[in-house]
Amino acid sequence: VKIVSVVGARPQFVKLAPIHHAARAAGVEHVIVHTGQHYDPLLSDVFFEDLGIGAPDVHLGVGSGSHGVQTGAMLGALDAVFDEHRPDWVLVYGDTNSTVAAALSAVKLHIPVAHLEAGLRSFNRRMPEEHNRVLTDHAADLLLAPTQVAVDHLTREGLAERTVLVGDVMTDVLFDVRDRVARRAADEGERLDAAEGEYYLATIHRAENTDDPARLRQVVEALAGLDRPVVLLAHPRVVAKAAAHGIDLDRGSLTSRPPLAYPDLIAAAAASAGVVTDSGGLQKEAFLLRVPCTTVRTETEWVETVELGWNVLANTREEIAAAVTRPRPAATDAAPYGDGHAAERVIAVLSERR
Ligand code: UD1
Repeated sequence: VKIVSVVGARPQFVKLAPIHHAARAAGVEHVIVHTGQHYDPLLSDVFFEDLGIGAPDVHLGVGSGSHGVQTGAMLGALDAVFDEHRPDWVLVYGDTNSTVAAALSAVKLHIPVAHLEAGLRSFNRRMPEEHNRVLTDHAADLLLAPTQVAVDHLTREGLAERTVLVGDVMTDVLFDVRDRVARRAADEGERLDAAEGEYYLATIHRAENTDDPARLRQVVEALAGLDRPVVLLAHPRVVAKAAAHGIDLDRGSLTSRPPLAYPDLIAAAAASAGVVTDSGGLQKEAFLLRVPCTTVRTETEWVETVELGWNVLANTREEIAAAVTRPRPAATDAAPYGDGHAAERVIAVLSERR
């Protein structure tokens, strides 16, 4: 069996790691294509190194641009790559522009497409990611769903026959990295300059929180006014937008610093008093680490984290302040995101159905 994985943005490198290891263990040929959507070493190279993936086999180097320019550049370049490799499967991940470009290119070359993390829905049609995931699900031949909620969405859209529930590969990698971080020496990895259990860890990068200056100012003020130190791991988008609008990311309780490598991020989240984020992945990582999460969005795809009490949606300054100081949620051993063996199931399904 030959699989070509297409990735381009930070969360996809994390999901790629368990798939790559499972493919190797099963003796499956696995070709990795990096579109170049994320090109900063801190958003890209360190993930390949720390998660033991090695270098991508093909790098398209498309870089930044408007959605149309970025997606179009990927489409053009991927045609040639797929035509050369002619894999049994093209595997696409999540909801980025790299995902939809790869799915569209492959289906038109009649190469079977599998979508990992299929069936997630925010039902917010202003999010570029929502269009990317809906279009990809309807184009793909095999829908690898992480949760029962995702399976239910796909069923309602008439896609049940193409759907398989495999669990969430982010659980695989989180469990693995959490255990590695717990065993590592005190001087290994990069640590935050903040006292354990005494700070909130924050990430903000979504267009809806960063692109409008008034909204970005509101979010930054909310973080700066919290009752403990807040460490913001600043994505290039938020740094660029803050600079453009003259918004200071270091004031009051808030300090900003560059993003962390994945193992260091997990260590920093586990040692925090809470996470404040608009990232998809971090909401789930906080839940799996049993760290309370506050999500700065009006909806979430990961509804299980909210239902179980470990995640609260908050948007205004008052809502965010109330959410981070809420009482610790009730302990739970619910496992909506699988058992940490999703990637093995993905490789088994792709091998059986080629
Ligand atoms: C993308 C994904 C989003 C995912 C996120 C994770 C889409 C539509 N969005 O958003 O689903 O949650 O990645 O980070 O695909 N930039 C840099 N250096 C980089 C990458 C980007 O400076 O290495 C700057 C670019 O100039 C651009 C901005 O950051 O203006 C946004 O980059 P973009 O590729 O649009 O994606 P993200 O916002 O990161």
